[in-house]
Amino acid sequence: MTKTVSIEKPDRLPRHLAIIMDGNGRWAKRRFMPRIMGHRQGAKAVKEIVTACRELGIPYLTLYAFSKENWSRPREEVDALMDLLYDYLQREVDELLGNRIRLRAIGELYRLPERVRNLLFETLERTSKNYEMQLVLALSYGSRSEIADAARRIAEKCAKGVLSPPEVDEETFASFLYTSDIPDPDLIIRTSGEQRLSNFLLFQAAYSEFYITETLWPDFDRKELLKALQDYSMRERRFGRTSDQIFLRCTGSES
Ligand code: IPE
Ligand code: IPE
Ligand code: MG
Repeated sequence: MTKTVSIEKPDRLPRHLAIIMDGNGRWAKRRFMPRIMGHRQGAKAVKEIVTACRELGIPYLTLYAFSKENWSRPREEVDALMDLLYDYLQREVDELLGNRIRLRAIGELYRLPERVRNLLFETLERTSKNYEMQLVLALSYGSRSEIADAARRIAEKCAKGVLSPPEVDEETFASFLYTSDIPDPDLIIRTSGEQRLSNFLLFQAAYSEFYITETLWPDFDRKELLKALQDYSMRERRFGRTSDQIFLRCTGSES
């Protein structure tokens, strides 16, 4: 049995960590393997990172697993990704239950193949009473449609007179998003060096810290995670204030 390496815990951890898991295809290409091998290896990284976050005590972890735009990839790749998702759910449910992790999913879930959707809903239900950590899978997810959807539902409520336009503020708007009861991500990690959001949590990321690493997702392990978390713990989050104000706030001497 392999013994887990003890984790040195940074002082300040994100309450919500979100990861854009990118680079599976390149990982495989470098090894002259089919892209699916990269996705398979990527699923192993998911397991390691979920376990590490649970051990560290990070309450919310969101993983961008499949974007709305990813539906336009070659049919065989999409099918293989759906199979991997199915296998992941089947294989990991006991681990999730044992570690009291609640599984959540955000995105256009109705577009998932029926057998995947059924197993997903079953897993969401089976883990729904867990409270130690929430693992949010972004599946068939697109932030612009999430926002447009919210706007449409708000407009419908206004038209019916259930909601009045002056009531529609940031908080009300956020309550119409998939993430209504999930805090905004404090830290967003993107692997494989790309410097973009790719339609991920556009509204929710307004004040998120970003960490971009050249490491490809299948190679992203505990050590890499800790490096990102250490980096995050050194950042000063100002939310528009000045550095001095933040300092005074921390020392409790702010008037
Ligand atoms: C991320 O890896 C996985 C998904 C988007 C589903 P990619 O498949 O995008 O890998 P690259 O970007 O081609 O290397
Ligand atoms: C973003 O990765 C989506 C996921 C990680 C699931 P992509 O590889 O699809 O992003 P782009 O298209 O290169 O921006
Ligand atoms: Mg990619």
